[in-house]
Amino acid sequence: MNNVKIGIIGSGGIAGAHVAAYRKLPFVEIVAVADIVPGRAAAFIERHGLGDTASFDSHEELLRQELDAVSICTPNVSHHRIAVDALRAGKQVLLEKPMSVTLQEGLEMVQTSRETGCMLSIGFQPRYDPNMKLLQRIVKSGRLGQVYYAETGGGRRRGMPGGTFIRKELAGAGAMADIGCYSLDMALNTMGHPRPVAVSAFTSNHFGRNPLYHREADQFEVEDFGAAMVRFENDMVLQFKISWAMHMDSLGSTMFLGTDAGLKVQPFGAGPWSGVWDGKIGAMTLFHDEFGGHTTTEVPLIGHDLDLFFEKVRDFAEAVRDGRPAPIPADEIVIQQAIIDGILRSAEAKREVSVELPDGVGCDSESSTGLTDDQAAS
Ligand SMILES: NC(=O)c1ccc[n+]([C@@H]2O[C@H](COP(=O)([O-])OP(=O)(O)OC[C@H]3O[C@@H](n4cnc5c(N)ncnc54)[C@H](O)[C@@H]3O)[C@@H](O)[C@H]2O)c1
Repeated sequence: MNNVKIGIIGSGGIAGAHVAAYRKLPFVEIVAVADIVPGRAAAFIERHGLGDTASFDSHEELLRQELDAVSICTPNVSHHRIAVDALRAGKQVLLEKPMSVTLQEGLEMVQTSRETGCMLSIGFQPRYDPNMKLLQRIVKSGRLGQVYYAETGGGRRRGMPGGTFIRKELAGAGAMADIGCYSLDMALNTMGHPRPVAVSAFTSNHFGRNPLYHREADQFEVEDFGAAMVRFENDMVLQFKISWAMHMDSLGSTMFLGTDAGLKVQPFGAGPWSGVWDGKIGAMTLFHDEFGGHTTTEVPLIGHDLDLFFEKVRDFAEAVRDGRPAPIPADEIVIQQAIIDGILRSAEAKREVSVELPDGVGCDSESSTGLTDDQAAS
């Protein structure tokens, strides 16, 4: 394949970042943009100086064009329908996070990708951070022994979005789906995508619903805080918490406890927006015993100036051009979708709920952003 022809669906905030990244790739041509609000795609094309790019008022019309791939940049609830339609139209898909809202939607998306042979890659750019890869390499090397407990999450002291992010019919979920999905991806990708079996969760929206803290409080329908205990098949648990708003500076470090060592991961910076959830690691510390004594080792971090968002878009575009599999496969991400689905059900029911993933979903697959066993051992 020579040039990769791309369509952009949804022309809001994040679509601009997709366009900026694609334009740095000489083998990519942005052929079409669609937005459900009439005139918005055309205005986007004008604003970004995209010249001859065609505009459409529906994703269906865009999908009838001659395109190799699409970036889906629409609100969460529409991800499922648009991704399934795009895959059925024979397009390769880069879908913004979160993958979907419910597990059922996620499973149908994975199934459609398998049936059509078109890739479905989900936009988790923190995976391209070299220190995220280092974290995965340390855990996967076996240095910690058997990992039996992990804790992750974090978020913001104050940082609630508005608009399409807070209405249930568009967003499906709040902080959980918006930033919680990053934390879950980090933990699950590090632990090798174990299969969840049960979730007990609590969510609240004391800040979003309060006009003192949110100017659109009367329209705020999702959670601004959530905490959950997730049980996995291999007798491992994950404690997970996320916040768009709280009266606290941080929800603590990320940690992995193993039978031979423990690993503490701290966010970069101490500000109220800092968090390992967005791919910025400030320190990694290994706790282990040597010669009978408690030993603490600081893991040297990797300095870099990578633009993680560009790396995500580049990897996807090159995978389309070279016929490679999805860089961040939906088969992996559907596991966190099962957890988010469980969290929302458990919070509503106010009790633990079981999570059922069909056989064949949730294997420890390797992605190009992940590591082989050989790499992990080195
Ligand atoms: N990876 C990241 O760093 C990152 C950052 C921000 C947002 N996101 C994700 O990107 C998605 C979009 O976020 P945003 O900030 O751009 O939202 P936004 O509200 O700014 O833009 C969404 C656009 O999609 C359009 N739209 C809605 N339904 C549509 C449909 N059915 N067909 C075509 N267009 C439709 C809207 O009119 C709007 O222009 C969300 O899922 C969000 O979680 C990812």
